[in-house]
Amino acid sequence: MQQPLQSSHLIGLRDFGVCLEEQFDLCVKLEDLADSLPSKVDTRVAMMLARRLQSALRRCHALEEKIVFPVLLSAQTDIAAILDRLRQEHLEDEYHANDVYDAIQAYVATRDRKDAEQLGYMLRCLFISLRRHLAFDCDYVLPLLRRAAVL
Ligand SMILES: [Fe+2]
Repeated sequence: MQQPLQSSHLIGLRDFGVCLEEQFDLCVKLEDLADSLPSKVDTRVAMMLARRLQSALRRCHALEEKIVFPVLLSAQTDIAAILDRLRQEHLEDEYHANDVYDAIQAYVATRDRKDAEQLGYMLRCLFISLRRHLAFDCDYVLPLLRRAAVL
């Protein structure tokens, strides 16, 4: 007989799904911005994206590390090394997001073509890395969380 779901597990499951969708959407927006360089950039939209990127990543990573990871650890003790790697990837993506924020600000201020090339490279590095991490979250972490939520 299945145990009733704990409310923290349900909240974690629901909010984790929302965060994954939000981060996939951010990747689309980052790619759109990279594709719009150098001459088709909407600078207001670019700055809004830069701010949203930093806050969304911090919020989503905090949810994973404070709610999702402890649920997984309580259900499966041999997952600690994987969670350490995911925490490290979160940190790296947040550092890159901070650099992207600075690069977007600099580009909006100067519209220098050299800045556009560097910004395009930074944007692509970030959304490729973020998509790789999100694919693992979807294919591995999310199914484990679903299983843990019904244990
Ligand atoms: Fe993650």
